[in-house]
Amino acid sequence: MRRVVSDLDARRLLGGGPVVLVSTSWHGNQDVMPAAFVTPLSMDPPLIGVAVHPSRHSHDMIKFSEEFALSVPTRALLHHVQYLGSVSGIDLAKLELTRLPTFRGRRIDAPLLEGCIGWIECGVHDAYTIGDHTLFVGKVIAAQAEGDAFDETWLLHDAEEAPLQYLGLNFYAVPAARLEARIPQPADVKRDVEAGEAQVGDATEAEQRREATEREREDRQRG
Ligand SMILES: Cc1cc2nc3c(=O)[nH]c(=O)nc-3n(C[C@H](O)[C@H](O)[C@H](O)COP(=O)(O)O)c2cc1C
Repeated sequence: MRRVVSDLDARRLLGGGPVVLVSTSWHGNQDVMPAAFVTPLSMDPPLIGVAVHPSRHSHDMIKFSEEFALSVPTRALLHHVQYLGSVSGIDLAKLELTRLPTFRGRRIDAPLLEGCIGWIECGVHDAYTIGDHTLFVGKVIAAQAEGDAFDETWLLHDAEEAPLQYLGLNFYAVPAARLEARIPQPADVKRDVEAGEAQVGDATEAEQRREATEREREDRQRG
């Protein structure tokens, strides 16, 4: 049964995207906050948007330093993510207190977080006021990923090496499996047009076998 969701909660219907840890450095100070309002915006040039509320300490850190780093955490950092998103760097030196190890980025001063599986370094390309947030558009100037976790896409071989996703409130998820979709070939499209019906859902025998093997592997992993 469908039920009405408030306009404000509509954003949670888009929940399940990766959460990132936005880190910054300015005049010897460092800060880090989780952000869920983050999205790729352009491929050429490679641009990424992160929407940050002006009340966040990170907002001014990004504004003044004109750069920021994104680290992609896994479930190992679940409680740290919630902590870093519940207290402000205005009041305390979060990164020092949590003692999370960091390492130097390749191109910028903002620290990158150890224990994560992906890291993106950005210079601020633009900033727009969007409603009550500032959309910082970052130009990607360096990126790294953990080889066991990522090879062109997240591999999802292991739940411990999957990006943490944010559902809203203090709830998170990890994606369970990488599913490979069939790419429609020109001949398939021609056949569908002639038949007046797209045979999208009919898996071939080979695909059925592969999906069954994948499901068995997932079941074994779950235990
Ligand atoms: C999982 C999670 C995602 C969040 N996403 C955002 C976001 O996208 N933009 C934002 O402005 N605040 C977001 N927040 C809130 C900030 O992380 C939070 O206010 C944080 O304490 C700000 O820290 P700062 O003041 O040190 O910058 C999020 C919080 C959590 C827990």
